[in-house]
Amino acid sequence: MKIYKTADYNDMSRKAANIISAQIIGKPDSVLGLATGSTPIGAYKELVLRCKNGDLDFSDISTVNLDEYRGLKRDNDQSYYYFMNHHLFDHINIDKSRTNVPDGTEPDADKECDRYEKLIDSLGGIDLQLLGLGHNGHIGFNEPAEDYPKTTHCVDLQESTIEANKRFFASADDVPRQAYTMGIGTIMKAKKILVVVSGADKAEIVKKAFFGPVTPKVPASILQFHPDVTIVADEEALSQVLK
Ligand code: F6R
Repeated sequence: MKIYKTADYNDMSRKAANIISAQIIGKPDSVLGLATGSTPIGAYKELVLRCKNGDLDFSDISTVNLDEYRGLKRDNDQSYYYFMNHHLFDHINIDKSRTNVPDGTEPDADKECDRYEKLIDSLGGIDLQLLGLGHNGHIGFNEPAEDYPKTTHCVDLQESTIEANKRFFASADDVPRQAYTMGIGTIMKAKKILVVVSGADKAEIVKKAFFGPVTPKVPASILQFHPDVTIVADEEALSQVLK
């Protein structure tokens, strides 16, 4: 596990974009696993700039997103499908037919999760998976639990996640209660993993997840067992572990 300490959010975003850029340049037909949430937005902005400058070419890149709310239409501005188009896909030269987000509008959860897992396999697996870190240690929507969910599945969101995400909705009541998410097994199969973390409010979970015991009660702690994980985190997020 490599940890890069950055001065602040902008520095974190540029360093994360450097790692993603290196992946794209080294393997122009890479399969990128992508995340939503506030943390990766700065890195996406950087990637857009680099693509506009002609320094990055996404034309052969495929993407698979971690997760999607169940029941939200794709044109809902809170859907992760909408988020990805808004923050990244609309601004780069990617072939949209190669971008994939679980289909939250598919009511048959088993069918959709099975389709998504097979889709990732059919692409040859994920070359680089980008992750944010939830305050309770969740990655994707894999919430603290008694065991690790292996494959893409439907989850009930925990109260703390609904609380954290309500800032994006009119009220907590409007936050969907379920989501489709890659499983921990799906994430762990990625060849490389890049975790981005920012802010003092993540300092405690950074310590638990990356320096504490590996347990499904802190889902991100499993990343300690992955052979190629890079964490890019700002000083505040690392304040409880690195001086
Ligand atoms: C996003 C996702 C989530 C977020 C996590 C952190 O696709 O799966 O696990 O990465 O909730 O969110 P932020 O970055 O908003 O703190």
